Amino acid sequence: MKRTLLSLLFFFTIYYSSAQPASSLNEKVKWFTDARFGMFIHWGLYSAAEGIWQGERLRNGNNYAEWIRYRNRISEEEYVQLAKRFDWDKINPEQWVLLAKKAGMKYILITAKHHDGIAIWNSKVSDNNLSKLSGTNRDVLKELAAACKKHGMKLGFYYSHWLDWEHPDGWDHNQEITGHITDEQYNKYWQGKVLPQLRELLTNYGDISMIWFDMWVDYKTTIVKKDQLDQVIKLIHELQPACLINSRLGLPANYPGIDFETMGDNQLGAVYTNHPWETSGTIANSWGYNALENEYKSTSQLLQSLIGNVSLNGGFTLNIGPRADGSVPYEDQTRLNEIGTWLSKNGESVYGCTGLQLRPDQHDWGRITTKKLDKKQIVYLQVYNWPLDKILRLTGILSKPEKVELLTDSGKVALNFIKSGPYTHIQLPDVAGDHFVSVIALQYAQSVELDEKTVAESTFGGLALSSNNESQNTAEYKKVSFDGVRPSHLVIDKSGVLTWQMYVSGPGTYQAYLSYHNDSKKDITINISGGDQNLSQSLKPTGKVVVEPHDSYTDEFVNNQIGVFNFPKEGFYKITFGVNLKENEKLLFNRVWLSKKH
Ligand code: GLC
Repeated sequence: MKRTLLSLLFFFTIYYSSAQPASSLNEKVKWFTDARFGMFIHWGLYSAAEGIWQGERLRNGNNYAEWIRYRNRISEEEYVQLAKRFDWDKINPEQWVLLAKKAGMKYILITAKHHDGIAIWNSKVSDNNLSKLSGTNRDVLKELAAACKKHGMKLGFYYSHWLDWEHPDGWDHNQEITGHITDEQYNKYWQGKVLPQLRELLTNYGDISMIWFDMWVDYKTTIVKKDQLDQVIKLIHELQPACLINSRLGLPANYPGIDFETMGDNQLGAVYTNHPWETSGTIANSWGYNALENEYKSTSQLLQSLIGNVSLNGGFTLNIGPRADGSVPYEDQTRLNEIGTWLSKNGESVYGCTGLQLRPDQHDWGRITTKKLDKKQIVYLQVYNWPLDKILRLTGILSKPEKVELLTDSGKVALNFIKSGPYTHIQLPDVAGDHFVSVIALQYAQSVELDEKTVAESTFGGLALSSNNESQNTAEYKKVSFDGVRPSHLVIDKSGVLTWQMYVSGPGTYQAYLSYHNDSKKDITINISGGDQNLSQSLKPTGKVVVEPHDSYTDEFVNNQIGVFNFPKEGFYKITFGVNLKENEKLLFNRVWLSKKH
């Protein structure tokens, strides 16, 4: 009886702490899903090595300078000497906060303890901390927390829980070979360092908005136990219930207590995802300062990473790697300043925004973000490429906007547009709204009605009917993505029909082309139908094409004109592609291209 009561009580405690009602969960994470853009700071003992050790660059082809101790097999005695290089007269965490603010970032996430195991605060748990090692009485995290409070910036801590190269019972990858650490030893590290240090971080620095953990493999495949991860969640919930936890704790995004998903490093979103998520990204390659860095991303590229993620309901945490004197590399600063300038003008299309549930990536001019404003809905067209013919073609929204405006340096400028079915054609001025990404805001009286089926128009008009936008594929042909030489295609090896939905905004004549590779020895007959018309052609076998002289050949895809469709009136039309194959015949289908004849 006692046992049953006890286990009931246990069940309730677990249930109560893990199963919070969905609405309060959403509220907890709302600031984060509104923020969309934050600053990651990788700063620790490794910053002073700058990616070079004893005249040698990082080993293993990995540019992550914060990994130098492990990669270059540095002993602890030698590694801790790096503390001498820190220039405390210059270090000023408020500068980082001011830079983040200027960049339009809404939170700061700093590496309180990275894999090297060296806490950057004056931790009472371990003398292996930056304050102690460099003989200063300063606590960088205290100063950063104060500056964040002063400037209204949220603060989160990165904490490497799984890997710790400093603790005798911590984990490093090489133990997969040496196998020295037992579960009992590892638990000594967990109970003696991880939990007490997290307690310090959650007790001494005011409100902590998130703890960002970093284990990118399933806990079942390594030393960490689920029970230990649950202890971490419990501790955080107990000390700071509002603090968010990311999925790299080592648990799935839908596990109770995990508030948002963290993608792989620099891995941008590919599909619209309902639960909260973010990508951590670098400006170049390394996270910690690396003096040998030489491949910086451009401001446009970084902005497109942010916007692309928002358009799929995600966020972006962009990293800087300050040096051991606290200074931020010039290359990082210039990009952040430019992003900040862009956001001060176009921020309404990012903060509090999500995406439309259309096919991802269906417009070749850019991306779409959106938000609700009371009853109204605003849709933002993020134009990466200003069309030469000065018409921006949007497909997929049936509702008619109340107004369409371009965001410019001197305010919003109204634009004319033509609405027809799922198409909105916007008349553009000669000059783009912005030299990085131009934003056009479409205001709708109510939530927009979407048409996610109709094939989107290409930049200059015309429709590419491909495996990415078919509405039906009866035979479920295998999809092959672009592999660097051959275009993306469907492998048609049995009879079947592909179907698309297209829209025609008025009576018109359309030319149909087919791009394909006929892998058989014989001709293959295909049919393309549109409305009640049928076009047919016999396709000759196709050969190879030279990729590089001498020995690199690949399948040639040819582009045939198949015929002409006359669509008598405005409306939706069904297009189908059919092929009747004999045994061992194979057609690689790339796309049908329909372009209007003028
Ligand atoms: C990886 C790396 C690490 C970096 C992190 C940021 O997990 O191990 O060095 O801190 O990703 O996303």
